[in-house]
Amino acid sequence: MAKEKLILRALAGETLDTPPIWMMRQAGRYLPEYRATRAEAGDFLSLCYNSDLAAEVTLQPIRRYGFDAAILFADILLIPQALGADLWFVTGEGPRLSTITDQAGFDALKPGDAIHDLLAPVYGTVRTLARELPKETTLIGFAGAPWTVATYMIAGRGTPDQGPAHALKAGNRPLFRALMGRIEEATIEYLSAQIEAGAEVVKLFDSWAGSLKGEDFQEFALEPTRRIIAEMKVRHPGIPVIVFPREAGEKYIGFSKATGADCVALDNSVDAAWAAEHVQVDGCVQGNLKSSHMVTGGQALVDETGEICRVLSKGPHIFNLGHGITPDADPENVQLMIDTVRNGAWKG
Ligand code: CP3
Repeated sequence: MAKEKLILRALAGETLDTPPIWMMRQAGRYLPEYRATRAEAGDFLSLCYNSDLAAEVTLQPIRRYGFDAAILFADILLIPQALGADLWFVTGEGPRLSTITDQAGFDALKPGDAIHDLLAPVYGTVRTLARELPKETTLIGFAGAPWTVATYMIAGRGTPDQGPAHALKAGNRPLFRALMGRIEEATIEYLSAQIEAGAEVVKLFDSWAGSLKGEDFQEFALEPTRRIIAEMKVRHPGIPVIVFPREAGEKYIGFSKATGADCVALDNSVDAAWAAEHVQVDGCVQGNLKSSHMVTGGQALVDETGEICRVLSKGPHIFNLGHGITPDADPENVQLMIDTVRNGAWKG
């Protein structure tokens, strides 16, 4: 029954005639109905912690476009907050957090299993969605991967080069490792609770994986992902895991095998034909239309969408963007992308 869902079939390794489709940040500011609900909630974090309104914004792009998956509306930075960091969002700029730079800061954090009180409303959102989504729509839960979450906890904000996190990693390795370990524990707890509430798939976002080089990539991107997946497979066998080691470049090769992931999401910079040859050989891939096409539209969007479908058609594929849709995107271009994937003219 459950396996009839297209996303679950692709994640199980099936090559489908037409790839199922969803979109990173599909509930977001490019949609007027999202902006209206966020205004009703007051601000972004209040929206994340209001189960009814978070479920509502998760459902909006499903109603409007009929995507094959819904992704829980929340944020990767709720984990730092649940561990005890201060978190707020500056409109037009992004997240701000209290920083972890020394042992005292780390010692003040809560244990990894103490996150559930704050995050209870998120699990409520998942339960509502599991009830209300159309029967063909797959519900995806998510968390940030430890490295990406650590970059925000150390710097207190988004950074172009993750400099503060690299500096702590080099300057106080034991503290950095302890912080990574704490995030890893919390992530396993958080994903497990989402699955218990009804998530059918989980995704790990390692948005800054590309800034880890050499051995660091192995130790701080690949290994934590592998350990989290191994534990998830023990606790929740049969729940597929999607990984997104963004900007990993050649390290995309073998990443799903090495980590035990069921699918690897390709970022904007990956050539789809290269991925067909080097990544899709190991199983399902997700991606990877450049997010900028959602702003520019037109024939280039149609051509590029068709090309990605074509070159990835010989193996399991879930169509998606290479990163999140941006607030300046035109909702009509999203419809054009979906129509292009589904009308199948690219098969001809
Ligand atoms: O994809 C979805 O629709 C599900 C919800 C979701 C959000 N953030 C909602 C959100 C998911 C999966 C995320 C993941 C996330 N959050 C990541 C990893 C993926 C990526 O984009 O690389 C990261 C790094 C974050 C941290 C974060 N949250 C930043 C840096 C920002 C500010 C930048 C921005 O886009 O404004 C956010 C805010 C955020 N998270 C918004 C949304 C819809 C916009 C906030 C708003 O409505 O004002």
